[in-house]
Amino acid sequence: MTKQRVTKAIFPVAGLGTRFLPATKSIPKEILTLVDRPLIQYAIDEAREAGIEEFIFVTSRGKSALEDYFDGAPDLERQLAAKGKDALLSEVQRATMDSGSIACVRQREALGLGHAVWCARRLIGDEPFAVLLPDDIIKSDVACLKQMVDAYDGGSMVAAMEVPNHRISDYGVLDINTHIGDVVSVNGMVEKPARDEAPSNLAVIGRYILSPNVMRNLNKIEAGAGGEIQLTDAIAKEIAEQRAVYGYKFEGTRFDCGSKSGFLQATVACALDRDDLRGELMEYLQDLLMLRAAAE
Ligand code: G1P
Repeated sequence: MTKQRVTKAIFPVAGLGTRFLPATKSIPKEILTLVDRPLIQYAIDEAREAGIEEFIFVTSRGKSALEDYFDGAPDLERQLAAKGKDALLSEVQRATMDSGSIACVRQREALGLGHAVWCARRLIGDEPFAVLLPDDIIKSDVACLKQMVDAYDGGSMVAAMEVPNHRISDYGVLDINTHIGDVVSVNGMVEKPARDEAPSNLAVIGRYILSPNVMRNLNKIEAGAGGEIQLTDAIAKEIAEQRAVYGYKFEGTRFDCGSKSGFLQATVACALDRDDLRGELMEYLQDLLMLRAAAE
């Protein structure tokens, strides 16, 4: 059997971003920047590296700045070209999506991640598709989704990472059957379990390759944890119906940019990766930490 290609990805970007108010009163959370690139750009670059050709954004009211971000900016591009600012010009052009490769659908009510993904159902045919949650930033040598696409061989696959016990209730959690290298076959999945009911410490991170069956399951899934329609429940239904679900223990460091602390850590980590910023920032951080330590 030939391996099925994964060419479509859904980016759920309809969330209100309440944890970043008041900034998100007028700016979508996905446009907040890590150094000088918006969060969404990291997810798009990762998807491109994994071979994704069609990008589907599930948006909501107040997210038009996101659609503008993907659009061409002819005046700006002309000015940058005239000034010979080629590096900046190619950065700007990288953010522009070809008209045929991008689609936006609206989620009219915030009914949960499963519902957001379901809103894109008409754009997904009978083929596996990816889902990327832009809050999860994963720094790695090979893009996390690319690692998964390379390992994927049918069924559904979720990115997985061990998390400390006191955080387990923030995640979808895997009930593990067997390990085969980085791939884990899964017996069950539960969304945000109580700490003492979590089946393992292996949590789902926001990268998925899903069988089209999962979309069909979403037609029938009822509200679960937190009163929301959960993607985890639609994937768990696959297991209940004897279809394969795998966890993939990716290589890389994940930052939870849905939290302020995770966002700050990702900002520092991204800045320290940059040749133009590293030296000055390291010096500043070292001085600052020394002064703090001396003051305590
Ligand atoms: C979502 C998913 C959860 C997953 C998490 C990863 O939760 O529902 O299964 O573990 O993303 O970031 P959220 O963070 O939206 O509450």
